[in-house]
Amino acid sequence: MSTEAAFARWTARVEAKLEQSLPVASQSPERLHAAMRHAVLGGGKRVRPLLVYAAGALFDVDEAILDAPAAAVELIHAYSLVHDDLPAMDDDDLRRGQPTVHIAFDEATAILAGDALQTSAFDLLAHADADVALRLDWLQVLSRASGVAGMCGGQALDIDATGSVQSLSALQRMHALKTGALMRAAVRMGAAAGGASGDELRRLDDFAAALGLAFQVRDDILDIESSSEQLGKTAGKDVAQAKSTYPALLGMQGAAAKLEELASTMQNALAPFDARSNALKALGELAINRVH
Ligand code: IPE
Ligand code: IPE
Ligand code: MG
Ligand code: MG
Ligand code: MG
Repeated sequence: MSTEAAFARWTARVEAKLEQSLPVASQSPERLHAAMRHAVLGGGKRVRPLLVYAAGALFDVDEAILDAPAAAVELIHAYSLVHDDLPAMDDDDLRRGQPTVHIAFDEATAILAGDALQTSAFDLLAHADADVALRLDWLQVLSRASGVAGMCGGQALDIDATGSVQSLSALQRMHALKTGALMRAAVRMGAAAGGASGDELRRLDDFAAALGLAFQVRDDILDIESSSEQLGKTAGKDVAQAKSTYPALLGMQGAAAKLEELASTMQNALAPFDARSNALKALGELAINRVH
């Protein structure tokens, strides 16, 4: 089975699970339901769900067990984007090639859609078709990665750092939290379903941390190098808003050198695993080379 075929199958699985877990737009409150569906369906690379399935594939986990954590991490990610785009944060009007939720609907609806997507992620995990100990592990991993010690904490650091120059270590911490934490959670949830050993979990976490950091460094580079059409979101906004980024601090060459370093960290972390790690490897390469 090729990696491309596996990615197509996993994407179809998570799309179906997301569709099934979202409220129908014809039911009250219709506007909130429609906004949630707008935020989640019809776009997005689904990288975090793919990480869940790819980590599970290392241990031959039944894919049906992974549908819940795969969809849950995407719901959290979609919520983070809705709030990231709000006027009080990055103030963006384009996302996944469509108007952002607060533009297509309104600001209050966007705030509530984000809130509801977040809680629906945990509801999905709580009711997943998996052993109670595994469900509890998933809930703990995803809630930690979403909160102050993860994505929200990183977003707060991003807001604080806007307009100022921060140290390289502060920038790395901010990127690790705002973007890396959910990537690490995705890998950890897939691996936990496969009963990974402590040593395997540590290696996979090193891989996921490097992937998450690389993903955001690449995002910062693309914001400069690419176009809004290509990205499906407004290019050039990091410089316009004086965001603290890798290219801003280290220049484009410095940021590219960081990506090379992270690529070798990922390779080393996965070295002991067999060919079942090919999908994870491909996702690591995607984080480094992606063009949108
Ligand atoms: C965008 O994430 C936000 C970052 C963390 C860089 P993605 O690039 O995964 O966005 P979608 O889900 O494909 O739209
Ligand atoms: C967002 O980082 C990270 C999140 C937690 C949503 P960015 O602000 O750079 O993401 P984009 O460029 O808007 O997708
Ligand atoms: Mg942002
Ligand atoms: Mg943004
Ligand atoms: Mg960005």
